[in-house]
Amino acid sequence: MSTMFQPKKERFNNPLIKNMCEYQDLVAEFENDFEGTWAKFADEKIDWFKPYNKVLDESEAPFYKWFSGGEMNVAHQCIDRHLETKKNKAAIIFEGDNGDQKILTYRELAYEVNKTANLFKGQFNIKKGDRVVIYMPMIPEAAVTMLACAKIGAIHSVVFGGFSSEALRDRIVDAEASLVVTADGAFRKGKPYMLKPIVDKALEHDCECVKNVCIVERNGEDIHWEAGRDYSYNELIKSQSPKCEAEPMESEDPLFLLYTSGSTGKPKGVQHSSAGYILWAQMTMEWVFDIQENDTYWCTADVGWITGHTYIVYGPLAAGATTVMFEGVPTFPDAGRCWKMVEEYQINQFYTAPTAIRLLHKMGENEPDKYDLSSLRILGTVGEPIDPPAWKWYYEKIGGSNCSIVDTYWQTETGGHIVSPLPAATPIKPASATFPLPGIIAEIIEEDGTPTEVGEKGFMCVTKPWPSMIRNIWNDPERFKKSYFGDCKKDGQPVYFTGDGAMMEEDGYITITGRTDDVINVSGHRMGTAEVEAAIKKHDNVASVAVVGKPHPIKGEGIFAYVVLKSVPMAHGDDIADELETMKEINAVIKTEIGAIALCDAMIFVPDLPKTRSGKIMRRILRSLAKGEEITQDTSTLEDPSIVDTIASKM
Ligand code: WTA
Repeated sequence: MSTMFQPKKERFNNPLIKNMCEYQDLVAEFENDFEGTWAKFADEKIDWFKPYNKVLDESEAPFYKWFSGGEMNVAHQCIDRHLETKKNKAAIIFEGDNGDQKILTYRELAYEVNKTANLFKGQFNIKKGDRVVIYMPMIPEAAVTMLACAKIGAIHSVVFGGFSSEALRDRIVDAEASLVVTADGAFRKGKPYMLKPIVDKALEHDCECVKNVCIVERNGEDIHWEAGRDYSYNELIKSQSPKCEAEPMESEDPLFLLYTSGSTGKPKGVQHSSAGYILWAQMTMEWVFDIQENDTYWCTADVGWITGHTYIVYGPLAAGATTVMFEGVPTFPDAGRCWKMVEEYQINQFYTAPTAIRLLHKMGENEPDKYDLSSLRILGTVGEPIDPPAWKWYYEKIGGSNCSIVDTYWQTETGGHIVSPLPAATPIKPASATFPLPGIIAEIIEEDGTPTEVGEKGFMCVTKPWPSMIRNIWNDPERFKKSYFGDCKKDGQPVYFTGDGAMMEEDGYITITGRTDDVINVSGHRMGTAEVEAAIKKHDNVASVAVVGKPHPIKGEGIFAYVVLKSVPMAHGDDIADELETMKEINAVIKTEIGAIALCDAMIFVPDLPKTRSGKIMRRILRSLAKGEEITQDTSTLEDPSIVDTIASKM
């Protein structure tokens, strides 16, 4: 599909970037005066308590500093500064799994955030710079807790509710958090599920740093209360004052940590700043989603991922928008749930992942016909490349061929979108994230920094720093430098490597081709193969293992494991039953170590792995085998080239 889709100009009243000329002008403005242009936006968008004295400090590159000396507060930027003009506007519209609703106006949100901030300060002694782990379902209190941390300068680390107690403990310990905020549980597909027992298990050992657990009671199920440690949010919040001064934060003070997968077993605590992060969250919200005063915007992500941080909580609220939060799943009670909600709330911007689009297409091709979706103006996708059939269904069935699709490319580390169409300006090519946003100096290069030829695959890089970029890996500056900045320099500055491959067409359109490292993308969730391998190795009978991604019709990629066992299992005396039993056990280990999101879609037992003489596993071969491709790679460097045929015969 190389057809070009022109934006429907008549659907945009007053977009910030109206056409490609305006886009080019803005790109040129950044090129001609990089710091001056960023300063212009920082002055216009941020409500500074104290002005900054330097736009960009590169003296300790790649540890860049933006807007040094300035003071502001992200919660003030997202809530308090709007109270004069928007106090009665809906800030958060919540819909529960069972259809229950709650709307918080900006004034109500301010009260809730302030009460929570006072609770954290007073009851739990949380101070500026302390770490708070948030392990919560998709309920408004999750956003309120994040903003309360921001208000008092505590650094939050949200852990996705699908992670296991082991994964939660690792993150608590790495951040040395003193408070965990959680819920008894929540509702999914009409039934209660639990979170608090997972926190209890995580805190069983090695978590002396945690002094308190604050529990939001959502589903009312019975939970264990540890005396002196566990407190009910619902009870304590009643007596808190709704007034709380915002803590003045230096621009570079960390706002949050968010752990993400890399190419080694240990997740990295991606550290974001206050001013630079919120500036770009707000700017991209306004540019890419064309947020207008009366719009209702819905992003279906979970607050446990970066998309939930930037485009459910911080971006929309900084832009003064109305953001929808949904507790449930898109397929309950049926595959029309999202479209029903679009009709009911008159959603104008809908933002989701290609995996959800594929699932909803498969489960309910004609469900959208039952609802009035004409309020929609912009449809967004994120998390993985979108395939043409999913794009077409999204465009035609959901958008009525009358919406702009914004295929937004970015990462946990970039803080916000970096390559994306502008809905009123950019002619769209399906499956292309189109052009870098103004201010993002992106290039596709070879490892040594030379630009790739048109149509050639290269590394997607950003060659100049930008305000919302990752600042550090918590407690591991060396890993930060090593993971993102190779030896490659451009104009004397280190180049940021995204880890993704990309390709540019003659007319400048960029297509993201997927990860170039050992990270796979399962249902839009980033998963380190090393992390899954480390979990599998915890099974007593596993000698070695290699995990690769395998194309999956709904998930994008599925997890495929090649496992070498120490001894052949013989519990049943029946090969198939024994193998199935061991697979089940291995998946149970994964569930305990990481969570159900990392379960293997397929697993085979092999006598050995294809290794070079120096012991390096040739993953490329395993990837090709998993895809069912012919092996074209040179196998002569393998210690035992015959192993490739042996494995192939087992597939
Ligand atoms: C992938 C999610 C193609 C990419 C915001 C990236 C995409 C990883 C797109 C980051 C897109 C994200 N097209 N691939 N529009 N958006 N990706 O950190 O591989 O959870 O590196 O952030 O998702 O995943 P993360």
